[in-house]
Amino acid sequence: MIISSSIISLDFLSFEEELKRTVQAGIDWLHIDVMDGLFVPNITIGPMFLPFCKKATNLPLDVHLMINHPERHIEAFAKASADHISIHIENNPNVLRTIQQIKEFDCKAGIVLNPATPVESIIELLPFVDMILVMTVNPGFSGQKFLPEMLPKINTIRKLIDQSTQKILLQVDGGINKDTIKSVIEAGADVIVAATAIYKYPQGIKAGVDALRNF
Ligand code: DX5
Ligand code: ZN
Repeated sequence: MIISSSIISLDFLSFEEELKRTVQAGIDWLHIDVMDGLFVPNITIGPMFLPFCKKATNLPLDVHLMINHPERHIEAFAKASADHISIHIENNPNVLRTIQQIKEFDCKAGIVLNPATPVESIIELLPFVDMILVMTVNPGFSGQKFLPEMLPKINTIRKLIDQSTQKILLQVDGGINKDTIKSVIEAGADVIVAATAIYKYPQGIKAGVDALRNF
């Protein structure tokens, strides 16, 4: 299991220390939630944060773009040291073009499905992607409640991946904590994203990560 910790819930007053604690806690990837206030109601951070994250951790940077016109920003994120770039398939008539653009910059390309988006909408894209991200909350905020209704969708995509010859990672994001993680892993996730369960864990980051690993 790969754990990608979403930095939007860390304590920005102690940015470097929090990132170092994240590494010490054994996190695999850093998840960067990018929101533009248009595709989702919230606004977070942009590419300028990535080189600092890379410098402090040297971890793979897993960028989740929740923005309109992601194609306009791929180059900036790639040049800022993104390793994985995932784009939503909603509100985007040029998804494949953008996936190809991500790969031209030697980044891994992911596609993201909102809770209301059906599995059928990604079938034709499977040969082109490195990762599929299933949202288990409405995108926009950390700290929301996990939607168990998404478990069958995760499992359907797991089966599709297993039937294909492609090497595709299945990532799940939203409301994952020590109580919900088991169902997500059993449904077939390879990569889980967590913000609140790591950065707001009462006993600290390391204990939060341990609680996820020992579900
Ligand atoms: C939601 C983001 C998530 C979120 C996860 O729009 O994509 O990555 O930060 O936060 P938690 O783990 O608190 O649900
Ligand atoms: Zn995310």
